[in-house]
Amino acid sequence: IPPPPLYYAPFPTGQQVFKMPKNESWSFPKDFLWGVAGAAQQIEGAVKAEGRGPSIWDKLPRVPNYVVNNYTSDIADNNYYLYKQDIARIAALGVKVYSFSLSWSRILPFGKGPVNQLGIDHYNDVIDTCIEYGVTPMITLYHWDLPLYLQDTYGGWLSSSIVPDFVEYARIAYTAFGDRVSHWFTVNEPIVFCGFYPLPTQHFPNFTIPNLHQRYWCGHHVLLAHAEAYHLGKQILGANSTIALKHNGGYKIPLTNSSADAEAVQRAWDFNEGWFSDPVFLTGDYPASLKAFVSGFLPEFTEEQKGMINGTADVYAHDAYTAQFYFAPEGGIEACVGDEENPLYPTCANTSYTYAPTSNSWLIGPAADPGSPWLHDATTYLPSFLHYLQRTWPSRLGIFITEFGFAEPFESHKTLLQDILYDPVRSAYYRSYMQGVLAAMSEGVRVVGTLGWSFVDNYEWAQGYSVTFGMQYVNFSDPALPRRFKASFFEYVDAFEVYQE
Ligand code: NOJ
Repeated sequence: IPPPPLYYAPFPTGQQVFKMPKNESWSFPKDFLWGVAGAAQQIEGAVKAEGRGPSIWDKLPRVPNYVVNNYTSDIADNNYYLYKQDIARIAALGVKVYSFSLSWSRILPFGKGPVNQLGIDHYNDVIDTCIEYGVTPMITLYHWDLPLYLQDTYGGWLSSSIVPDFVEYARIAYTAFGDRVSHWFTVNEPIVFCGFYPLPTQHFPNFTIPNLHQRYWCGHHVLLAHAEAYHLGKQILGANSTIALKHNGGYKIPLTNSSADAEAVQRAWDFNEGWFSDPVFLTGDYPASLKAFVSGFLPEFTEEQKGMINGTADVYAHDAYTAQFYFAPEGGIEACVGDEENPLYPTCANTSYTYAPTSNSWLIGPAADPGSPWLHDATTYLPSFLHYLQRTWPSRLGIFITEFGFAEPFESHKTLLQDILYDPVRSAYYRSYMQGVLAAMSEGVRVVGTLGWSFVDNYEWAQGYSVTFGMQYVNFSDPALPRRFKASFFEYVDAFEVYQE
C-alpha cells in the first residue's frame, strides 16, 4: 500500500540538524525521575504462558474489525521473555526509571481467588533486574487489561464488586513487591477506558459504546477503588511511598477569545481531568458543572466516601502528550444540554484535536492548520499547561508527567530501516518537550519527573501495530522481534546530559 501523501512538511527546512540549546538558567535536579514507560498488555505477549488468565484485551481483537487488521497482542513485543534484554538496553542509555504495569490476570488468573505464583515470580524478576541495572522500577496496577472473568461475571468496572476485588489485588501486589518498589500508580487514564472518548478505542468490553450512565458508574467505581487502594498502600508501603492515579488529557486552548469558547474550555477541563482530579485533589467530589449537567444520573458519593477520596495522591500524575483547541458548539450550550443524543453532550465543547487517521499520528495542534507552529513544538504550550495543572490541582510533591510521546507520521508505512530509525519529528517533539518542562520548572512549576511513552514500539490498542510510539523500533514481522534504537531515544536521553544540574 503506498503511503498517503504528506499534508504537511515533516520538518521545517533549515532545521533538519539541530543542537539542543543550553539555557544557563535551566537544569534538571539530580533526583529528577526521568525514564520510560510501557504496559503489560501492550508489550508482554505470552498471554497463555505460565498460568496467566485471559484479559478483556485478549478477547476484544477477536471481534472482527474491532482492531486495525484484527491485530492481537498475543505476542506483542514478547517482553514476558525478553524483559532482561529490554531492561539492559534502556539501562545502557542511562535511563533512570522504568515504569511498567502488572497484568492482573497473570497474578490472579480469575481476577480474584487463587494467586498464580509464577506471575509473582515473573514480576519479582523484572524488579530485581531493574535494580541490578540501577534502574528504578515503578508499577501501575491497572492499565486496561481487566481479567476477563471479572467482566463476564459482573461487568467489570460497571459493578461495585470491582472495588473489593481491585483492592485485594492491590494488597497482593503491594505485599509482594513493596519492599523494592515505592512508586505506584493505581489506575491508568480512566477517562479513556470508562469510554468517554468518542475514539474507535471503545475499551468497553461489552463491545458497544457505553452509554453515559455506564461511563459515570465506571468512573465512580474507579475513584472508590483507587481511594481504598491508596489508603491500603500507605499502610503497607509506608508514608514515604508515592501513590497516585494516572490522569490524562491535553492542554485546552480556546480557539478564539470569545467568552463562549472560554466556557467551552472550562467544561472540557471539568469533564475530562476534573472528573477524576477534583475528587482526588480538591473536594472528594465531582466538579459542580458535572453535577449540574448530568445531575440525572451522576452517581453520588456519601460524605464518608468524599472524605476517603479527598487527598488520595502524593503527586499529580498526568499523561500529558499534546494540546487541543476548543470551541463552543453552534447554538451555544443550549444546543446540547440535556440532549443525550447530541454527540457533544454533556461536555458541550468542540475540539479541533485530531487523532488523524490518515497520518496515523497524533498531531500537536490543529490538523486544519498545517503551517501552525504548534505542530511539533511542545515549548509553545507545555509551560502554560504545567502551570495550569499545578495551579488547579496542587499536590504534595508536584507534577509527575507519567506519559508523553509521539507517533512519527507515517512511520508504519516506511520500509527502509534508516527512514524508521531517523525520526526527526519525534526527536523534535522530545527535544522541545524537555525544553518546555525546563522552562516551566524555571518559572516555579514543580515537576518531579517525566516518563517517555514508549521505550519500544508496541500494541496500540484498537490501532494494533499501525500506530507506533516507540523510541525503539520493532519489526513485528520478524519472529525474533529485534529492538533498534531510534534517533529520538538519544534525543530524549541527551536532554539530561545537556541540562544536568
Ligand atoms: C496512553 C495510554 O496509557 C497508553 O496505553 C497508550 O499506548 C498511549 N497513551 C499512546 O496512545
